[in-house]
Parts: sequence; C-alpha cells; structure tokens
Amino acid sequence: MQLRYAPPANDEQLRAYLALGFQSLVGTPLPEEPAFVEAWMARTLPFGRARVMTEANGTGEVLAGLIDLDLAVFFGGRSVPMAGVSFVATAPEHRGRDVAGTMMRAFVREAHARGAPLSGLFPAANALYRGVGYGLAGFYGTFRLPLAAIRARPGALRVRRAEARDHAAIHALYRARAEHANGMLDRGPWVWRRILDPIRGGPAYVYVVEPEPGAPLEGYVSFTQAPLTGGQLGYELHVLDVCASTGRGHQALLGLLGAHRSVVASATLRVAPADPLIALLDEQPRNGVETRFDWMLRVTHLEAAFAARGFPAGVRGALHLDVVDDVVPENAGRWMVELEGGEARARRGGEGLLQLSVRALATLYAGYQSPWDLARAAALRGDDASLALAAEAFRGPMPFLTDMF
Ligand SMILES: CC(C)(COP(=O)(O)OP(=O)(O)OC[C@H]1O[C@@H](n2cnc3c(N)ncnc32)[C@H](O)[C@@H]1OP(=O)(O)O)[C@@H](O)C(=O)NCCC(=O)NCCS
Repeated sequence: MQLRYAPPANDEQLRAYLALGFQSLVGTPLPEEPAFVEAWMARTLPFGRARVMTEANGTGEVLAGLIDLDLAVFFGGRSVPMAGVSFVATAPEHRGRDVAGTMMRAFVREAHARGAPLSGLFPAANALYRGVGYGLAGFYGTFRLPLAAIRARPGALRVRRAEARDHAAIHALYRARAEHANGMLDRGPWVWRRILDPIRGGPAYVYVVEPEPGAPLEGYVSFTQAPLTGGQLGYELHVLDVCASTGRGHQALLGLLGAHRSVVASATLRVAPADPLIALLDEQPRNGVETRFDWMLRVTHLEAAFAARGFPAGVRGALHLDVVDDVVPENAGRWMVELEGGEARARRGGEGLLQLSVRALATLYAGYQSPWDLARAAALRGDDASLALAAEAFRGPMPFLTDMF
C-alpha cells in the first residue's frame, strides 16, 4: 500500500484524526459537542501542526496521525528548539503494517528540512521510535508524597491565591530554575496553559508565596484535586508544578500542601528526582516513584543541534564523530565538532573516532547516559581520549522533564 504523509486535507480529516487519537490514547470517544473540538483546535494548533497518513490515491480515510508541537528545551543553559511529537495513533485495523513507522520517518525528515535541531516525545512503544533514531533522554516521574511526612506548618510565611497579574513572576521563577537544569522545557503559552488552566482534571488551584504584600514572589504551586473513588471521604492532590527560589519558600509550599491532611492522604508530584522539595522532607516519600515514563530525543538536524546547545565553559577540543542515520542522510557520516568557550560548531570531516548511531547521539547529547555506559551497551565505539572528551562536553545534571506533552 502506498502511503501519503501530509497535513489534513480538510476539517473532516482533522476531526477523523482527533477521533482516532481519542479512541487510541484517551480511551473515550471524541466528545461530540462541536465546541469541544473548536476549543481543542484553538488551544493546540496555533502552537504546532497536525499530520495524517492516508492511502495515496485512496478514499482519504485517515490511517494514522500525529501532532508536531513547537517546543524548546534547555540544554547546557541554552534554549534549544524541539519539535514535540504528541498524540501518535494508528487506527487499530491498520496497525502492524509500518504505518506509524512510515509516518515517523516522514516526520523526522520534515523536521530536518525546516531546520529543527531536535525532536522529543514520550514513547508508549520504545521500539517504534528507537527504529527511527530516537534515544532515551531524560527522567519523567510522579512521586507520591504522604502528607503526614510533611513537618512544615502553614502560617510561617504569607501564601495567597495567585492572580493573573502574578503570571509573569511565576514564569520568571520557573525559568530561573529550568535554565540551570538539562531537559526542562522552555515553556511557552501552550505549556503554561496546561499548568495554570488545564482542560483535563481542572480547575487548577494556584498559590504563590509572597512574604510581604508587594514583595517579590518566592514560590508557587499549581495543583488539581481529584475525589477518591468508592465513596471514600477525601480527595487527592495532583501537583502540576511547584517551584520555590528560597528555603522558606519551599517550607511555605510544603506547609500549604500539608494543611490539606485532614481530608487528603497524599499528593502526587511531578518533580526532579533530586528536587529540593523532596530533599526537605523528613522521610522519603514512602512509595517513592509512582510512575516513571522517561522521554526520548532525536537529533533531527545535527549542525543546528550542536550550534544551539550550551556546553561547559572550560571544555576545549574536537569530537570526531562518525554517525549512522538511516532516516536523515544529511546527518550521517563524519563530523568534527569543535568545542570552545561554552559553544560547539559541527563541520564535515574529521577522523571518525567516535562511532555511534544517531539514537546514541541523542542519549549522549542529553547527558542521559555517559559515553562509558553507551560503550558498555555497544551503542558507541571510540578510543579513551574521545570518550573522555565526550564525557566532559555532555556532563551535567541528570536530565528530566516535568511536563508531559
Ligand atoms: C503504537 C502505534 C502508534 C504503532 O502503530 P503501527 O502503525 O501499528 O506501528 P508500525 O506497524 O509502524 O510499527 C513500527 C514498529 O514499531 C514497533 N511497534 C509497533 N507497535 C508496537 C507496540 N504496540 N509495542 C511495541 N512496539 C511496537 C515495532 O518495532 C514495529 O516494528 P516491527 O513491525 O518491525 O516490529 C499503535 O499501536 C497505536 O496507535 N497504539 C495506541 C496509541 C499509542 O500507543 N500511541 C503511541 C503514543 S507514544
């Protein structure tokens, strides 16, 4: 069967794809009210593109589709544009015939052609994305925090409900933290809306720490509430985002969460494994990580990816790469990556001392695994000096994300 990858030809195809996405990923039919679809499109499509697979010269039946979101992610202190792939689905009756594989290859080539350095996604099926050059790149997880483990008491510092006028300060608090981490999103309006005004599970309760009226904010938290099932008393808190810039800001936010304990046994948190909030607890979250869903990255445009990322300022030298990329031939072959002054520049040529697939390159680029670990898994080959230089170049905190897309 000859397949065609393209934007939806009309509204009907877009709706057919959305219905397929709901059936395949949400598990419910697409809500029928026209207003729902309009609202979904208005919230999503300005920040990305839909792509669908149809049979070439066929009836126009939608076999599969994806959403390609314009995101950006921090690596080495710099914001790197990233094509975020979301809502990937193949109609059940067309699965297992390489429809999604063909779609992903076409998508990766399209991202390369428009100069997107990276693409990222949450893989429900690792093998599908591995096969087109994505490698694991960062932690994503949900911790369950028993509120009884919180010693901080509310009232020590002023916390109040957030207002629209606080949004700029909330964004600034997040950015100050995210740019010093690897893999956190450089959030735009699409992501912020999901944190402060989510469609699903909403409304969000958003609070800020403001020590004195008018003083700079020292933290914020946004959470939704979900009733317990089976007629039990109480509900759960789902923290969508939490961030503080001071020790007392963290204590105030913990105190606010803990103040729910009469009716809430636990809260879920999407934070880094070593988030200061976790470190402040007197006990480890008893059940630890509740879900772990690491995300994947692909280097879609090698030169652009090296030019965009930041590197440790003191690292100097040249990495001689020999890259295998079956989907984007423009990335494949030998590259010399010169590192100096916190920047890198990739040029054609070099001695090919470090041999790796574009998938392993993504894992290395993110700092998810060291070159030594990649070599142990036979994902990379190279001499000791090249491995040591790569380890220096890509060193950094364990990459993680706190936003699902
Ligand atoms: C996952 C999904 C998109 C795959 O679509 P598909 O068109 O059947 O996939 P393809 O036939 O193109 O498969 C390509 C490769 O992906 C891998 N793959 C496909 N489905 C897989 C699955 N369910 N689990 C693990 N690997 C899978 C296989 O390696 C396959 O290669 P192979 O056939 O040589 O073994 C489809 O099963 C689906 O829509 N599932 C429900 C929604 C979902 O999980 N979406 C993905 C969100 S990230």
